[in-house]
Amino acid sequence: MMTHVLAFSYILASVLFIFSIRGLASPETARRGNVLGIAGMALAIGVTVYSPLVTDYLPVIAAVLVGGVIGTYFAVRVKMTSLPQMIAAFNGLGGLSSVFIAVAEISAGSDMLIENALGLIIGAVAFSGSVIAFAKLQGLMKARAIVFPGQQLINLLLGIAMIAVTVFFILHPDRNLFYLLAAVSIVLGFLLVLPIGGADMPVVISVLNAYSGWAAVGIGFSLNNVLLIIVGAIVGASGAILSYIMTKAMNRSLTSVMLGGFGAEAQQSAGSAAEDRTAKAGSPEDAAFIMENANKIIIVPGYGMAVAQAQHVLKEMADDLRKKYGAEVKFAIHPVAGRMPGHMNVLLAEANVPYEDVFELEDINREFATADVAFVIGANDVTNPLAKTDASSPIYGMPVLDVGKAKTVFFVKRSLASGYSGVENPLFFADNTIMLYGDAKKVTEEIVSALER
Ligand code: TAP
Repeated sequence: MMTHVLAFSYILASVLFIFSIRGLASPETARRGNVLGIAGMALAIGVTVYSPLVTDYLPVIAAVLVGGVIGTYFAVRVKMTSLPQMIAAFNGLGGLSSVFIAVAEISAGSDMLIENALGLIIGAVAFSGSVIAFAKLQGLMKARAIVFPGQQLINLLLGIAMIAVTVFFILHPDRNLFYLLAAVSIVLGFLLVLPIGGADMPVVISVLNAYSGWAAVGIGFSLNNVLLIIVGAIVGASGAILSYIMTKAMNRSLTSVMLGGFGAEAQQSAGSAAEDRTAKAGSPEDAAFIMENANKIIIVPGYGMAVAQAQHVLKEMADDLRKKYGAEVKFAIHPVAGRMPGHMNVLLAEANVPYEDVFELEDINREFATADVAFVIGANDVTNPLAKTDASSPIYGMPVLDVGKAKTVFFVKRSLASGYSGVENPLFFADNTIMLYGDAKKVTEEIVSALER
């Protein structure tokens, strides 16, 4: 009887997870998606704990308490701009738990050798890769790609060693070979992520996310747990799809990202431009005056808007321009603006910017040519035209928002500093660009007070 209840509950939980992911696909339904996910997870944990699979409650309660407290602490404390490293850390923990389960199963004499080996390998790579990704995103080590001679050859040899040890282990199931496999996989995970840097990090995070899912699938087979297999496959597949979408948005191929080296030589290229060119600076009052007289304004938010938390006052500015001055105001979002997929969409939704005013790159890029003003707030890389022209640049090939085509371009940022990729933006020095120096929130507040005077 209990096994039927368990099987039915697992299927119900899986359905809830699928609807949860579906809900998370749009900001409008994301809250509902979240609730469905929580319900699915509560059901899955509840029936598992209640089932005969669990004989000793103390470790389960201890694990739920420790994990729950740590998870809640981070969910409450972590700033949205630090979410990518939190995701990296959680992917790593997912991978590590697969490693522990695989080791425990083999130590307990499990004969599911292939399944455990797969769970171990993928989990170990996800774990150590995530450690490096976390360290880079958290600023504990240089975010740039770290490359050294012979790196790819070493990775290739490690890959071959990994396959060889797996085959040996399956033919002669010896626990020491399993530990050796874990060690080789962990080193490979470190080395795979080291040469990836700069703008490619989001792709790595989502690839590691997919790995942690596939590792769970391996472990699900070895434990004969249907829910783990289904949920692992959902995580693995959605991570893979997200990686594909992001590499497409950045005009990269997944192999080129994973082989690494991008972002290694960022920085040098346009370095000298700042010395012999000057950028025009304007005041918030100047910006208000120009925008009052504009028919069409396109706002381009970026990472700096998130840092300054300027989304609410930005919405006020857009409302004023529309209602008081009759301007057409749209928001343009680049797929990798900010520091995580959907970062800008979430912030604008939080500020109640209507979804119909928010446009993706391919839907709005042509409209900059007919816009009077491009108001770029805290964005930089996603507007950099060098992505189209400078083949030596680490952002080369990434589609960018053509803000330079608007009659006037405002850049709201604190200095002429470069963005995440470390590449200077020549648009700052263009004839139709006016820099509005300062914190994004403060500058926009000043523009709003000028508009409302
Ligand atoms: P960035 O190119 O990183 O530029 C952000 C700009 O915001 C900086 O140049 C900075 O200039 C300015 N800024 C920082 N704090 C500010 C504040 N308080 N007020 C006003 N401005 C402020 O941002 P982007 O254009 O959004 O591009 C995103 C970059 O991050 C891309 O290279 C992308 O590949 C990468 N990335 C994206 C993701 C995802 S998935 N979205 C994840 C990781 C990395 P100042 O210092 O002069 O103020």
